This record gives sequence, structure tokens and C-alpha cells, in this order.
Amino acid sequence: MIGAAHKGAEVSITGLGTCVPDRVVTNGELAEHVDTSDEWIVARTGIRERRMATEEQALSDLALPAARAALDDAGLRGPDIDLLIVATVTPDMAFPSTAAILADRLGAVDAAAYDLSAGCTGFMYALAQAYGLLACGLAKRALVVGGDLLSRILDWSDRSTLVLFGDGAGAVVMEATQERGFLGFELGADGAGGEHLWLPGSGSRIFDDAERHVKMNGREVFKFATRVLVQSAQDVLAQCGVTIDDVDVYVPHQANVRIIDHATKKLGIPSEKVVINVDRYGNTSSGSIPLALKDAEADGRLQPGKLVLMTGMGAGLTWGSALLRWTKEA
Ligand SMILES: CC(C)(COP(=O)(O)OP(=O)(O)OC[C@H]1O[C@@H](n2cnc3c(N)ncnc32)[C@H](O)[C@@H]1OP(=O)(O)O)[C@@H](O)C(=O)NCCC(=O)NCCS
Repeated sequence: MIGAAHKGAEVSITGLGTCVPDRVVTNGELAEHVDTSDEWIVARTGIRERRMATEEQALSDLALPAARAALDDAGLRGPDIDLLIVATVTPDMAFPSTAAILADRLGAVDAAAYDLSAGCTGFMYALAQAYGLLACGLAKRALVVGGDLLSRILDWSDRSTLVLFGDGAGAVVMEATQERGFLGFELGADGAGGEHLWLPGSGSRIFDDAERHVKMNGREVFKFATRVLVQSAQDVLAQCGVTIDDVDVYVPHQANVRIIDHATKKLGIPSEKVVINVDRYGNTSSGSIPLALKDAEADGRLQPGKLVLMTGMGAGLTWGSALLRWTKEA
């Protein structure tokens, strides 16, 4: 799916909030569980530490503070929201949806609320859905949350996946605005590659011996990720009639610094425009892009008028890009 955003109302991000668990887990701590080392993890992934939830915490416990912060940032309250999407693969439970739980906690009594599953690309898919519903006037104010507790589904004896992931959540408020925010989207999926990153035993398909842990073919996912990060970004830029030189802030999915470096070089974007926080958070799946947006806002790079390119990729296999003009004051 690809399209420039020029048919309906203009839509912008008007609020941004994030939340990560307090508990920091270093590479050294993981090396007590599996045969790995800080040197290996830093050299192959760029990750130095990640956050992990306590046993008492579920996704909604991170999503709620992130959502409240985003609403505050937008100057809104829960009842103002009429669309609430939570992008995740680790909801509190299969049902009720985490979005319905959040809507209740926030008092968003008029909101349509549902969870969306598109792996680490979930936040990008959710942005595009919210954009469509706002642009056509069906929704007025949307809250889009991206977040995961991947620590819940990791195999603590598998060094090839354990070291990569972390927990975190981010939320944005989206509204129809005078100024033009979103310029276009490109989204895709390749189910044939699904077997390279999957969670057997997590649904209605019965597997013998399924332990409900992430299984991954790291090399295949690496090849896929480097390809789609570049292609999807180039496609959305071409669709919107802009070039990579016009982009002020590049926010790629935070999976591995080597994947980001590859995309940065291929796209030809200077490193000072690239947001990287995978060193501190690891791969937080749907939380990755909103957490990176928050960092870019905090370090002063996200200013009104800046052109922002975001690209995510992940299980499915899926990918997605969005191009937007940042309109919000920090
Ligand atoms: C997982 C990943 C970091 C592995 O890096 P790599 O350079 O491809 O490493 P390889 O898979 O070739 O493995 C090299 C060796 O390191 C070993 N290894 C794997 N994980 C290790 C770890 N945590 N510590 C130490 N050694 C490890 C492998 O067993 C292998 O050993 P061998 O040569 O004796 O078989 C890399 O493939 C990757 O990032 N893939 C994408 C994963 C991803 O982003 N997934 C989420 C997408 S949303």
C-alpha cells in the first residue's frame, strides 16, 4: 500500500509521550544466563542495555503513563479521544484488548478501541490507520500507542534472541489540523518470510512442544531488514515528491545499529540526522519509533517544520514508512 496524503483533512501529531520500565538490564547481566559477552553484543548489534518490566507489570502499565503524557502534551483528556489503537504483539491478554483496557482507564468512553498486530511495524500501521480515519472525518482525535514487553516471550536459554530485545511503550495523539502534518505512507507484508521471525504456540495453531518463545533466523531477518528499510523509505519519498536531502530527521526502527548504518549509507543521509537509541533500549518492537521520536524531541532535533522520515520493519514479515512535517512545539 502506498499513497501521498492529499485527499482529506490535514492530520498531525499533536502529542507525544513514552514510558520504559525502571529496571535496566546490562549485557553483562545477560551473560550470566547465556554464553555471550558485552563485546559480542555491542559489536554485532550496538546494544549496551535494555529495560525490562517487573513480573507485576503488563503492557497497559507502560502504555497508560505513555498515553497520559501524550494527552497532556496535546492539552487533551481521555474523553476527548474517539479512536484508540494499540499496536503490540504482547497485549495484556488476547482479550479484552489492551486498547479497551486503556480506554477505560483514560475515561475515553466514546472511543473505538482495538489492538493491532503487525510485529515491530505495528506502530507504523497504526499511524496509517489513524491517519485514514482522521483524514476522512470518521474520527476527530486519535491516540496511537506502540509498545511491547518482549521480555515476556524471550527464551532465556537462546543467546541469539535474548540479547536483542527490550520493553517500552510510546504514544502519540493525532488530530486534524490546519497545518499539513502527514505527507504519505508506504506499508507492506511478505507472509512467505513469516517463518523467519515467529512465535509458535501463541494462537490457535497447535504445535507439539511449543514453548511460546520468539524464534528467529537472524541472518534472513538481517537481509530482509536492510533491504526493506532502504526500499520502503525510497518509495515513500518518491511518492511524496521529495528527496532524501529534504529529510531533516530519520527515525528507523531500532533493531540493530548495523542495520541502521546500512540503511543510512544506502539512503545517503548524514548521521547527524539519524536517531539512534537502540544502545539504551534494545529492540522494543512497536515501542521503538515513538521512543526514538521522544529522544529526537528531547535533543532538539524535532522542531516544528522539520521533515521526518520513519521506517519500521518486523515480524510478518512486515514493513512501513511514514513521511510527515513535524508541527508540534516541544
Ligand atoms: C542476530 C544477529 C545480531 C546475529 O549477528 P550475525 O553477525 O548475523 O551473527 P551470526 O548469526 O552469523 O552468528 C555468528 C556466530 O555468533 C554466534 N552468536 C549468536 N548470538 C550470539 C550471542 N548473543 N553471543 C555470542 N555469540 C552469538 C552464533 O551462534 C554464531 O556462531 P557460529 O559461527 O559458531 O555458528 C543478526 O543476524 C541480526 O541482527 N539479525 C536481525 C535480527 C533482528 O533485528 N530481528 C528483529 C527484527 S524486527
